[in-house]
Amino acid sequence: MTGQAVSFAGLSLKNPVLTASGTFGYGREAAELYDLGLLGGVMVKGVSREPWPGNAPLRVARAPGGMLNAIGLQNPGLEHFLSTDLPFLRRYDTAVVVNVVGHDLQGFVDVVRGVTGQAGVGAVELNISCPNVADGLLFSQDPASARKLVAAARQATDLPLVVKMSPNVTDPVALGLACKEGGADALSAINTLLGMAIDLRRRAPVLGNRTGGLSGPAVKPVGLRIVFDLAAQVGLPVIGMGGIETGSDALEYIMAGASAVAVGTAVFRDPLAPPRIVRELVDELEQHGFESAAQAWAAANPAAKEAAS
Ligand SMILES: Cc1cc2nc3c(=O)[nH]c(=O)nc-3n(C[C@H](O)[C@H](O)[C@H](O)COP(=O)(O)O)c2cc1C
Repeated sequence: MTGQAVSFAGLSLKNPVLTASGTFGYGREAAELYDLGLLGGVMVKGVSREPWPGNAPLRVARAPGGMLNAIGLQNPGLEHFLSTDLPFLRRYDTAVVVNVVGHDLQGFVDVVRGVTGQAGVGAVELNISCPNVADGLLFSQDPASARKLVAAARQATDLPLVVKMSPNVTDPVALGLACKEGGADALSAINTLLGMAIDLRRRAPVLGNRTGGLSGPAVKPVGLRIVFDLAAQVGLPVIGMGGIETGSDALEYIMAGASAVAVGTAVFRDPLAPPRIVRELVDELEQHGFESAAQAWAAANPAAKEAAS
């Protein structure tokens, strides 16, 4: 039996497969289909201090090899999360990573502080990379702003602090290094790529927000490239995501340097994709002669190779 557990940045996961934020809600629908305890962890939909209404419709559109979304971080807010969603998730033996979003620095910090000390919260993921709201990329376009936000969040919590990287920047490594300086324990990558679809009949953008975030298999090569660079050059553990649909995709990310992976858009086609990918990854590792994900990571990760030489 392949050893599935992974441990990094103060997080201990029974296996390296999580759900990606925003594609799993807070777990209720998935829990009707399978035991959430089969997953290494769940990264929940972004939580903001106050309820956040989200964008005008249409909010999703087709794209070749994936989809565009402009949900706009709709969520019922921190109080609702703490009183309703977190108690529900606590019933399952899986790590809960709370994705945090805010309109400004204080908005982020208040949510980070609000979830700190709450039973059942395994880590915080700062979403500084949402392309679908007016101020969503505020903290990822400028490494100095990112560093300041991460440092403020660091002061507010002793939970493992993960920062979600944007692919919509020229130099993701510079952003990752700034987050490390600010006190991040790990990075997650990638968020969606800014894109657009046009409705020829209406002669206008399809999405109510005009632009949206591209996700799904189309973005996998971009995700792999960014995870590879972050893992090799920043020196923090990375949770890899972007277009993962199979165990083989997951292993590609691990070999690119990811310590764990998250499954997002795949669930819209196959709601059972996360537990399926847990199983497929076990087979995939065995086929490639590895006893564990950690061993595959060490065999292929440039950072690990460098440390060993
Ligand atoms: C409908 C939808 C909603 C999303 N909402 C969030 C969110 O609230 N916070 C966040 O950090 N990322 C959000 N994302 C981005 C995903 O977590 C993930 O980073 C991205 O989609 C790439 O992975 P994938 O190709 O497997 O979907 C969302 C993605 C989709 C498709």
